[in-house]
Amino acid sequence: MSGRVALVTGASSGIGFQIARGLARFGAAVTLGTRSEARGQQAVARIRSEVAGAEVEFLIADLSALDQVRSFAANFMERQPVLHVLVNNAGGFFARRRLTVDGQEMTFALNHLSYFLLTRLLLDRLVAGAPARVVNVSSAAHYDGRMRFEDLGHRRGYRFGLAPYAQSKLANVLFTKELARRLSGTGVTANAVHPGLVRTGLSTKNIPWPLRPLVALGVAFMAISEEEGARGPLRLGSSPELEGVSGEYFNLSRRAQSSAASNDLDSARRLWEVSEQLTGLAQTR
Ligand SMILES: NC(=O)c1ccc[n+]([C@@H]2O[C@H](COP(=O)([O-])OP(=O)(O)OC[C@H]3O[C@@H](n4cnc5c(N)ncnc54)[C@H](OP(=O)(O)O)[C@@H]3O)[C@@H](O)[C@H]2O)c1
Repeated sequence: MSGRVALVTGASSGIGFQIARGLARFGAAVTLGTRSEARGQQAVARIRSEVAGAEVEFLIADLSALDQVRSFAANFMERQPVLHVLVNNAGGFFARRRLTVDGQEMTFALNHLSYFLLTRLLLDRLVAGAPARVVNVSSAAHYDGRMRFEDLGHRRGYRFGLAPYAQSKLANVLFTKELARRLSGTGVTANAVHPGLVRTGLSTKNIPWPLRPLVALGVAFMAISEEEGARGPLRLGSSPELEGVSGEYFNLSRRAQSSAASNDLDSARRLWEVSEQLTGLAQTR
């Protein structure tokens, strides 16, 4: 991937770090999205120490905040005239309902609105870099998801974060498919992927502490490593075999059937419009 430019969000740890390292190994120039200077420096230093000649840098943003998504995109565009691979990966699970600085429910804002807004803001760069790829890290949790357009922020039925998480991951697939339809003919593809059940901090970070050892134990036994979890997203971002493939859902590295809800065209269009409203893009059109 020498000469290719990639951007990976949530790259300070977990699956995102492994994706960034993998892309750097393939020779791409990689920008890591991180939340803090210290974690960004650490991640970049680790990649440089492991990958000879790695071209890596980091940019900081709390992607749950719309203004920070905008400044993150602007900073990236100042540095790079083109983008070939965008991996939307930063995400979280929140057992207790919380709001972002914009007043949105955290799971929906971070896991879906940040993917939507960042991709839209970087579209010109992707089209300029075509053939280019958008990889949205979703989850098999999307099979349990239902779009609650009447209450996207789950004021009711929060269910310890399970319902909003599943909805946000369904939103990732709906967004991917709608994006792929709208990008048809531009040379930019969009695909969604379930990375597997992966041994990261995702399931334990934001749950009540008495539950943490139990969940950590379950994950330790059942889950795959972070490196294995990065394989599917990496393949989607880099494999020549997948050139031109768009609008698909992958389970790890294999193409798979996503849920019926994720193939609902009305729902995809509605989510697109609502997301434009909620991110302020509708006002700037
Ligand atoms: N782990 C699994 O089993 C699994 C299964 C299916 C799908 N996924 C998906 O995989 C993706 C990555 O998750 P993971 O398992 O690698 O979890 P993780 O280890 O917790 O990593 C999440 C990444 O997102 C970043 N992040 C969190 N909140 C952020 C914010 N407000 N602004 C910017 N960055 C933020 C984190 O930064 P910090 O390092 O600063 O916290 C971290 O780099 C998520 O989209 C998740 O839904 C994971």
